[in-house]
Amino acid sequence: MTTRRRRGTARRAPTESFPFDPTEVAPRLLAWYGAHGRDLPWRHTRDPYCIWLSEIMLQQTTVAAVIPYYQRFLATFPEVATLAVAPPERVIELWAGLGYYSRARNLHRAAQKVVEEHGGDFPKTVEALAALPGVGRSTAGAIVAIAFDRPAPILDGNVRRVLVRLFAYDGDPRGTLAERALWKWAEALTARERAHDYAQAIMDLGATVCTPRDPGCPDCPLAALCQARRQGLERQLPVARIRKSVPVRRQVALLVEREGFYLVRPRPHEGFLGGLWEFPVADVRADETPLTVAGRLAQELGFSGQKLAVGRLKHAYSHFTLELDLVRIMGRYEERVAEGDWQWQAPGMLVKMPLHGAHRKALERFVLVAASGAVDE
Ligand code: ADE
Repeated sequence: MTTRRRRGTARRAPTESFPFDPTEVAPRLLAWYGAHGRDLPWRHTRDPYCIWLSEIMLQQTTVAAVIPYYQRFLATFPEVATLAVAPPERVIELWAGLGYYSRARNLHRAAQKVVEEHGGDFPKTVEALAALPGVGRSTAGAIVAIAFDRPAPILDGNVRRVLVRLFAYDGDPRGTLAERALWKWAEALTARERAHDYAQAIMDLGATVCTPRDPGCPDCPLAALCQARRQGLERQLPVARIRKSVPVRRQVALLVEREGFYLVRPRPHEGFLGGLWEFPVADVRADETPLTVAGRLAQELGFSGQKLAVGRLKHAYSHFTLELDLVRIMGRYEERVAEGDWQWQAPGMLVKMPLHGAHRKALERFVLVAASGAVDE
């Protein structure tokens, strides 16, 4: 029987044999890490709470951006038990600016689970760690290796890129086939000893040498083994992901000002962007204009003032793009506000509050600029 590959799915299956001796990788990486590894705050501890916190924060953004957040967080919640009993809004507040607020909520829930189900001690296996909210297989592997010095494979974005190039994997790096191959390679290369150093070495290599656009091959300890380099493909791999198109959602948000204070409220804790603060907002249907919807929303809130369209911004979420129109309401100050959790806040206070991403952009573009007297070009 002949098997035919369907068009568009033609990708090499992971090879059983390696194009180089896999045991050569760890010693090269470890030697390089000894000379070039970064001195980072979470590298001065083996406390699994600190390692876990740093790994969750590093899922979001760069090392440089994480450091002040990590330090502030630990100063406020020095151990998992203090985080577990903290008010949710305090956790969100300390997270504000890092983005992806569902991760802050998962962090809080995970701390509670560690206290309630593990007596305050972080579990030591990948399986048990991966059962904590917000901890995936790679983060669990990083915690096991870094905190407990036990071998465990890791496959975060940086490691993924290193492996794709090392093995010259030319398929979609996020596809199912890639997933299987990359985990298998990650497992095969993981050092049996010095797991703590190996995990950080391969992450550092991805972050500082095997970078997305300009890989520093001359400085790479794995250059002699790298199949992408051998084929001159280090800048072409990983292949770009095909982005699926996402729907556009149109909304209007109101900038209702009263003597320099703006109307905002927290979103309900459960659900999308839960607990984050927002200006009054409503969906705009295809047959409506933002100004019509703004008028209706203002009326519902008890304002009848003049409306002024001040601008539009776009904000991308994984499953839709938000097109947000901003409308300023010049209401009379004595007008009352409808029932609810509404508050009046000054721009100086709003910047410190956990506003959700699109409304933070709105604040920065349409409120703070005006407040500082700067001219928008
Ligand atoms: N990225 C994710 N975790 C990291 C770590 N522990 N060190 C450096 N970069 C990282």
